[in-house]
Parts: sequence; C-alpha cells; structure tokens
Amino acid sequence: MATTYAQRDYPPIPEIKRIGVIGAGQMGAGIAQVAAESGFEVRLNDISRQALDAAMSRIDFFLGRHVSKGVLTEEGKQQALARIVTTESLEPFRDCELVIEAATENEELKRKIFAALVPHLKPEAIIASNTSSISITRLAACTDRPERFIGMHFMNPVPAMKLVEIIRGIATEEDTYQAIRGVCEKLGKQAVTAEDFPAFIVNRILLPMINEAVYTLYEGVGTVESIDNAMKLGANHPMGPLELADFIGLDTCLAIMQVLYEGLADSKYRPCPLLVKYVEAGWLGRKVKRGFYDYRGETPVPTR
Ligand SMILES: NC(=O)c1ccc[n+]([C@@H]2O[C@H](COP(=O)([O-])OP(=O)(O)OC[C@H]3O[C@@H](n4cnc5c(N)ncnc54)[C@H](O)[C@@H]3O)[C@@H](O)[C@H]2O)c1
Repeated sequence: MATTYAQRDYPPIPEIKRIGVIGAGQMGAGIAQVAAESGFEVRLNDISRQALDAAMSRIDFFLGRHVSKGVLTEEGKQQALARIVTTESLEPFRDCELVIEAATENEELKRKIFAALVPHLKPEAIIASNTSSISITRLAACTDRPERFIGMHFMNPVPAMKLVEIIRGIATEEDTYQAIRGVCEKLGKQAVTAEDFPAFIVNRILLPMINEAVYTLYEGVGTVESIDNAMKLGANHPMGPLELADFIGLDTCLAIMQVLYEGLADSKYRPCPLLVKYVEAGWLGRKVKRGFYDYRGETPVPTR
C-alpha cells in the first residue's frame, strides 16, 4: 500500500482521553459537560474566571437534573464534575489529544487563540473548531497542523441535541476525520458531514430563516409574538424564530449572517438592520436576559 504524506510526516493519532475546551460560554460548557459525562478528562479554558465559574454551576445544575431523572447516579455526577479542570491558561492543554475551540464567533479572535494555543500542544494533538460559520480551511491555515484540524459543530444545547456537523478543511487528513467520528460516537452524538462552505448545512438553512423573521418584524408584518406564534402553530416549529435567535445569541446570529453575506457575496444574505441594532444595544438574547424578549421577569415578554 502506498504511504501517504500524512503517514510519512505526522505522528499517528493516539487514543483520545483528554479533551481541552476553549471558551466556557453556553457551547463550551455544554461540550465540557458531555465530554466529562462520557468519561473524558476535560480542561475548560476561558479568559474570564466569571465565565468559568458560571459554566461549572450550570454543569452542576444540569448533571443534577440527570440525577433526578434517574439517568445518572449522584456518584456518577461527582465523578463527571471531578473530571473537569477549569483554567484561564492554555498551558494545561499540553497533555490533551484533542482541543475543541468554542470561543466567541469572531475570526480574528479565533486566529489569535490558535496562535497562542499551538506552542502548548503535543504534535499529535487534533484541533477542532465549533465555529458556526467560519471557513475551516482558513482557520486551519493559521495553525502548524492543517492536517490535524477539523470543524466539530455542536448544536445548542449540547447535552440535548444529537447532531454534530463534521467539516473537513481542504487539508484535513482522513485519520483526523475518522478519529473525530469516533469521538462523536463516544459522546453519544450522531455525525453528519458537511463541506467547508460558509455556515455549513444547518446554519446555511436556519440563519437566513431567522434573519427573514427579523425583517418581518422590522417591516411591521407582525409583532414579536405573532411571528413566533405563526411559525410555531403554522410550521410546527418547537420554538419561534425570534425566540430561537435569543437562544442562539443575537451576536452569534449576526456574525453568521455576516459570514454568509461576505462568503457567498450574495445580497440575499444581508443582515437585517434591526438585528444589527439589537446587537449594538447589547441586547444579545437569553445570555444577557434581553433580546427580542426580556427575560428579567417571571415570564419572557417582548422587549419592544
Ligand atoms: N450559540 C449557539 O447556538 C451556537 C451553536 C453552535 C455553535 N456555536 C459556536 O460556538 C462558539 C461559542 O458560542 P457561544 O454561544 O458559546 O458563545 P458565548 O458568548 O456564550 O461564549 C463565548 C465564550 O468565549 C469566551 N472567550 C472569548 N475570548 C476568549 C479567548 N481569547 N480565550 C478563551 N475564551 C474566550 C468568552 O469569555 C465567553 O465565555 C461560537 O463560535 C459560536 O458560533 C454557537
């Protein structure tokens, strides 16, 4: 059998036992939880100690819910929590076989993170990005290991959602792809493979729908409640599009629309000015308790 370039030049991928997660927001915390529940040792990194503490109390709460539903024992919960180490440094990632980046959706920021991460990694470690939309090929190219770089797009909330989209960059090697399929299986997730085009499969379809819902509000076709009710009752969606936008985070929604707009150079993807305005106001959705809905009271009410 012919020796491939990868077999010649890259160390083989070891068994993946330790996973580093960068970014302890809603996605990073969910990924850390699922990985720890599945038996992986986890290092969870964020620049903000407050985000790390909030992530650990959310993980504690969600694991507690699994205990009360009888799907996890109290001992299992304590063992999972003990498998997660939080850190504001990237140094503890030195022994990880896989690092999953789940920081804010901003290409410049992600590039800086990878530049800072690479010197700490062992040569055989795989880097995955949970980006919702940014080119895996471009992100891979700013590391020393594009062959060991891949997109691993989890869905929100991570513990509840079955899907992981796997995206190969142009240089991603087959053994990297197979190793990541194996990790998805161990995490109890189902993988779907998407090509490396802006926003991949799920968000290429979902985000223009959400953006259109914001235009519908902007143009006065409906109110926040009528738009959400129309899509829940008329299209059988479990959540209305504006409620879903709040759940995803309006900054993330806007960032994905900008990637689609610029990456596909098609005006049909232009972000709705009202979405821009909400982000400029800092009304980013559920995570800050205000977006299209205001979550500060007992039940959510439209913000405007
Ligand atoms: N929200 C969703 O529904 C969803 C779904 C799938 C994928 N994603 C993707 O996951 C990523 C994270 O999204 P999120 O919703 O968890 O965002 P979030 O705003 O909840 O969390 C982002 C976290 O990244 C941290 N961070 C920022 N700069 C950092 C740095 N230099 N080093 C370490 N941490 C840093 C922030 O402090 C914050 O805690 C994005 O790429 C997003 O596109 C989001």
